Amino acid sequence: MRNSVAAVVRGRTALGASVDDMAQRWLASAFGGPEVLSLEDFEVAAPGPGEVTVEVRAAGMNPTDFKRFGGYYGTDPSMLPVYPGSELAGVITAIGPGTTIASGGGAVGDEVLAFRARGGYATALTLPAADVFAKPATLDFPEAANLLLVGTTASDALNVIGVGTGDTFLIHGASGAVGVSAIQQARLLGARVIGTASERNFALLEHFGAEPVAHGDGLEQRIRDLAPDGVDAALDAVGTDEAVQVSLALVSDRDRIVTIAAAPKAKEFGFTAIGGTNPASATYRDSVRAQLVDLAASGDLVVPLARTFPFTEAVAALELLRSGHPGGKLALITGGAIASQERNPAHERSPRGSGLI
Ligand SMILES: NC(=O)c1ccc[n+]([C@@H]2O[C@H](COP(=O)([O-])OP(=O)(O)OC[C@H]3O[C@@H](n4cnc5c(N)ncnc54)[C@H](OP(=O)(O)O)[C@@H]3O)[C@@H](O)[C@H]2O)c1
Repeated sequence: MRNSVAAVVRGRTALGASVDDMAQRWLASAFGGPEVLSLEDFEVAAPGPGEVTVEVRAAGMNPTDFKRFGGYYGTDPSMLPVYPGSELAGVITAIGPGTTIASGGGAVGDEVLAFRARGGYATALTLPAADVFAKPATLDFPEAANLLLVGTTASDALNVIGVGTGDTFLIHGASGAVGVSAIQQARLLGARVIGTASERNFALLEHFGAEPVAHGDGLEQRIRDLAPDGVDAALDAVGTDEAVQVSLALVSDRDRIVTIAAAPKAKEFGFTAIGGTNPASATYRDSVRAQLVDLAASGDLVVPLARTFPFTEAVAALELLRSGHPGGKLALITGGAIASQERNPAHERSPRGSGLI
């Protein structure tokens, strides 16, 4: 359907015949690796009351994207097709009647970010205004598109295990996207942070005020050497047996161990697992989005970006993400300013992202 609202969906004039409200999106019609993805054209719905249409400049990328069509959450055919992508940043091109975005106001031309989005790997999308926030000027589009999934996850984890001043807090996978957000938030809460990472990422952890330790054989002893008085709380952002066993060995109170990647082990050993589809987590995470956007706006929360890919190269981007060592966040970039080159390799991050050069 085209109407006067849809007529500005792609930023064009509302004169009818020249209107283009078509967009492209990625979808998986079968379960499998990134190679099952294909691009399709679709008509962007005109926003109704409580909705806005966003022309996407950057689609944020998270491991859950490939997990959803990779069968990690089941392979019931009714789940197909899968439209990957939970977050994005772009420009409002249409807004429903009487609608304001989550951060207040909202008008055509405003730069915004959105989380949660359904099918964020798209060049344009109509979505609930309640999930759309003004983009902080401190973040470019790829960074903004990657702020909230990991930010809300990290906040949820810290909240569940009560991280605060005086705590010695251990993060497994501290160089990962959730880990880096968790370091920053835990430091703001006054905790001492010890984080596991590959050695090439030690400087990143140190930059954010965490003490790095290499994962692998001997991890428990290396942490005991760093923290002879013990570890108060732990976040497993990796899901390996090592991360679980070391957390259980070092943290005496199992209520202060949380995993985002090993739910079966949490059930087996009596600690907490959290996930975005858990109703309590979903409510909490939605409630802290505005606060995290404010933290980013004030420069207290940054999003280290590893690399951007042209929108059409989602498969290659997902292969890098699936490697488990992307070196920072990844984004799909739409529009004329596409640049497929590495912005900042893992050992040489941009001042804008992590402050490292
Ligand atoms: N439950 C939830 O709500 C939720 C939300 C978000 C994410 N997640 C899950 O949490 C996990 C992390 O997500 P992310 O976005 O942070 O991923 P990411 O950015 O890809 O980071 C993964 C990190 O894991 C580390 N790693 C890889 N192999 C390792 C190993 N064998 N031992 C220790 N560390 C290892 C890597 O560190 P080095 O490169 O330094 O080795 C890397 O920094 C994923 O499984 C994701 O699906 C869950």
